[in-house]
Amino acid sequence: MSNPDWYDSGFPHIWLPYTQMKTVRPALPASRTYGTRIVLADGRELIDGVASWWTAAHGYNHPHIAQAVEAQLKKMPHVMLGGLVHEPALTLAERLSNLLPGTLNHVFFSDSGSVAVEVAMKMATQYWLNRGARGRTKFIAFKGGYHGDTIATMSVCDPEEGMHSLFTGVLPEHYVIDLPRDDETAAAFPRAPGRARSGSRRASIASAAAEKSPTVNWRSCRAAPISPRPGTFRAAVASWWKCWPCVVAA
Ligand SMILES: Cc1ncc(COP(=O)(O)O)c(C=O)c1O
Repeated sequence: MSNPDWYDSGFPHIWLPYTQMKTVRPALPASRTYGTRIVLADGRELIDGVASWWTAAHGYNHPHIAQAVEAQLKKMPHVMLGGLVHEPALTLAERLSNLLPGTLNHVFFSDSGSVAVEVAMKMATQYWLNRGARGRTKFIAFKGGYHGDTIATMSVCDPEEGMHSLFTGVLPEHYVIDLPRDDETAAAFPRAPGRARSGSRRASIASAAAEKSPTVNWRSCRAAPISPRPGTFRAAVASWWKCWPCVVAA
């Protein structure tokens, strides 16, 4: 069956993510979706077993979400939060605050997961600058972690997956340590930032790779080094599923 016209004319002009375009098999032309299904241009239907990552919670074309998006687009598609606020932003901020634990009660909106992580890293950095502490230029991240594909987020990803050696000299260098996986390694974890602090520069951040270890009681792992206490900054980054990687300046 032949491809649609838009496929043949457009495909030579696209770079797909995580893909070697010289060796990639021709991508399938998708034309519409519903529920768990992706309908191809020739009418064949696929069951989306990986839920395209981002549709895992509600599937495609959920009527409530479609209706809400349509209504909002007609009323006010976008107004920047520059000297202005609006009801959807404030209502969502309040609802998210109510979901967050402890004293986490402010929300900063950004446009992607990578940018959200970068925002949290900048907030933690600025927290110390505002307190007059200079030299806190290092982050502590966990092996196996994934935080995005921008330069700063790659630098706190797993060194292999984040291609640290390939990008040496471009990526900022941080401390990437083993993720605590049981009581023993969790107990050892508080020493890691201590070691980091003994260097010429001091580490200011721990960043989580929680989705790699869903069986670990992450709350107890992180409790010791980053328990909320006076003088501690915490930022939770809401990801595309129920996981709250945490950036901490302690
Ligand atoms: C934990 C985590 N952080 C960050 C990201 C990056 O998000 P985005 O692709 O929206 O930049 C992802 C994406 O899968 C993620 O799973």
